[in-house]
Amino acid sequence: MKTALFIVGSLRAKSFNRQLACEAEALLSPRVKVAWLDFHDVPFMNQDVENPVPAAVAKVRETVLAADGLWFFTPEYNYSYPGLLKNLLDWLSRPRDPADRNSPSVLSGKKCAVSGVGGRNATADCRRKLADLLAFVGMKQLRDHEVGLAVAPTSWTTDDLALDEAGRAALAAQTSAFADFIEA
Ligand SMILES: Cc1cc2nc3c(=O)[nH]c(=O)nc-3n(C[C@H](O)[C@H](O)[C@H](O)COP(=O)(O)O)c2cc1C
Repeated sequence: MKTALFIVGSLRAKSFNRQLACEAEALLSPRVKVAWLDFHDVPFMNQDVENPVPAAVAKVRETVLAADGLWFFTPEYNYSYPGLLKNLLDWLSRPRDPADRNSPSVLSGKKCAVSGVGGRNATADCRRKLADLLAFVGMKQLRDHEVGLAVAPTSWTTDDLALDEAGRAALAAQTSAFADFIEA
């Protein structure tokens, strides 16, 4: 069985994106083993402390390397992806061999998918910019299936994502395509 690593771009306890990831895990887990990346202790990128690599960074790099595919679930912050994700990807994008600046990173050639829940824009700008970044760092993104959802007006007060039928169907289609993608 292949393994998928879920990466949530929000630290909020009741994050809609984490709720979406939970729904995706339920759909995906019969076919693919799901793990969640814990990266709360990854420091801000600082080249002064890059080598030797901080323990928290070494751990997330190993976890990413071992996964067959990554799935990002991310809110849109100010027309883009959150700084939290950019910082993580900056660390992960560095060469695995610090003595060889041309050596691949743990992201090189790694398959990934993106979904996002946000305001009325349904994270469209975040996902567009994230796709550029993922391509730049050498990842292979599943582009035909990308779920972007706008939070239902009532959900802002209940904190419950409350996926509707269309959202659930889109997520099911993306889940199936992602499983095919990483199993290929
Ligand atoms: C700093 C900041 C900037 C935001 N900018 C946007 C934005 O540009 N577009 C948007 O749709 N929502 C924006 N939002 C709203 C978030 O998308 C919304 O709160 C979302 O629910 C956060 O995801 P989460 O529930 O997974 O934490 C912003 C929120 C924050 C905190």
